[in-house]
Amino acid sequence: RIEQPVVIVVFGASGDLSKRKLIPALYQLAYQNLLPANFTLLGFARTPYTDDEFRELAREGVTQYSTAGFDEHLWRWFSQNLFYMSGNYDDLESFQALAKRLEELDAERNTGGNYLFYLATPPSVFKPITSLIAETGLCCRTSADHLRRIVIEKPFGHDLESAKDLNQHLLNLFDEDQIYRIDHYLGKETVQNILVFRFGNGIFEPIWNRNYVDHVQITVAETLGIGDRGGYYDKAGAIRDMLQNHMMQLLALTAMEPPVAFDAEDVRDQKVNALRSIRPLDPEEVDQWVVRAQYGPGVSEGQEIPAYLEEKGVDPHSTTETYVAWKTEIDNWRWNGVPFYLRTGKALAGKVTEINIVFRKPPLMLFANLIANPNTQVPPSNVLTLRIQPDEGIRLTFDAKRPGPAVNVERVAMDFSYSESFGKDPGDAYERLLLDAILGDTTLFIRRDEIEVAWERITRILNGWKMQEEKAAQAGKRLRLPRYAAGTWGPKEADELLARDGRYWRNPHTV
Ligand code: BG6
Repeated sequence: RIEQPVVIVVFGASGDLSKRKLIPALYQLAYQNLLPANFTLLGFARTPYTDDEFRELAREGVTQYSTAGFDEHLWRWFSQNLFYMSGNYDDLESFQALAKRLEELDAERNTGGNYLFYLATPPSVFKPITSLIAETGLCCRTSADHLRRIVIEKPFGHDLESAKDLNQHLLNLFDEDQIYRIDHYLGKETVQNILVFRFGNGIFEPIWNRNYVDHVQITVAETLGIGDRGGYYDKAGAIRDMLQNHMMQLLALTAMEPPVAFDAEDVRDQKVNALRSIRPLDPEEVDQWVVRAQYGPGVSEGQEIPAYLEEKGVDPHSTTETYVAWKTEIDNWRWNGVPFYLRTGKALAGKVTEINIVFRKPPLMLFANLIANPNTQVPPSNVLTLRIQPDEGIRLTFDAKRPGPAVNVERVAMDFSYSESFGKDPGDAYERLLLDAILGDTTLFIRRDEIEVAWERITRILNGWKMQEEKAAQAGKRLRLPRYAAGTWGPKEADELLARDGRYWRNPHTV
């Protein structure tokens, strides 16, 4: 339970993120009795709402999205702590009014002058907002007597340079330990469990290395197209939307060395080391390592999806990828020679996030010809699947003798399921992250050096693609990305990326 009073100032409070995630997550914390008695949320956005109109919007969010359900009695307490004011993100007067409103709330509600600023806005206003809260004396380092923290949503920059620039800007105003760069994947129970699984048990870590692991696959597949997010997505693409942040985090947690202690600095030190060990890609060689593609028309989960280029808000000649697959190597003692294959895409055949640790085959395949599920190439029998979502769980496959007089070998699995063992769906990621931000625990947030090294590796890919586009333009041609039909597992080029190494993508339920 949080004891210290705090005002959470949500910039962008009238938006989708606030309605779908932040307010329901706070309500869920209230449901668990984790919020302080005088918890206060002040929404700030451009839309002119009254407090009551904002509460109505919040109520819709809670009714639709809260996993705790809706309780009228709790709602009455919760909603009276919600306040709203409208203003412009780049206007000094609006921020002076904000400072005044905060002063009033402090006096009325005894909030102790503690502020957590949450930037749930488009990134274009991250800088003006933070500059103005500094200019109006609402932050930053000078407020040593009060709690001052800032939570920043993604995207954090669009390449290495812009990420560095934003970091520099923020660090001119705040100390690193006041900055909470959010990646909601880190709030997922199953993602947090990666470290517990690896370092809380004695039997997996000794084989978690190049001596036993053949390769690692990380898949984040989504079935939906980009829907009405064309304006944002066409500028971002799969690489900025998913790979640079969520997938790099999954990779870091899978590949990192054990931390000295389970605290923010030690954990993040090891994640940074893992990211630094990712082999820097030569932009000239981007095609050898990375596949990008766009979805064409198709049907996914019974829904008709138009071609990406026909989606609303997308440039009809766009070369933005909706799918990316990346083969990389981690140049350190643990992983030398073990490829990591990462892929993510929209409009694919299934919604699934999983990490597959594919172990080496036995040195002599005694039963290779007896396998009941013949494949031209006998795939490795031991795969550990960390199923991040949905059907959260962990699965280990191995070969077993099918009962009977003949020796028939069949692939079977040991399964751990969160819902069977713990009886409920894992909580929402935002719930945990908001709680940590209020309590001051940065372990599940991204540190400055972490975001910069992730961007450094990703920017190399972006530079490779830029060079390709420039070459095409010089030749008077337009680059056209490979296509995959919506509702499939992606382009054939991605299959070829693995086939070249004698491997294949492990789609859910393949053995
Ligand atoms: C967001 C991306 O960060 O993550 C979305 O912007 C994506 O495009 C979403 O759909 C996926 O999150 P989750 O929790 O549904 O896997």
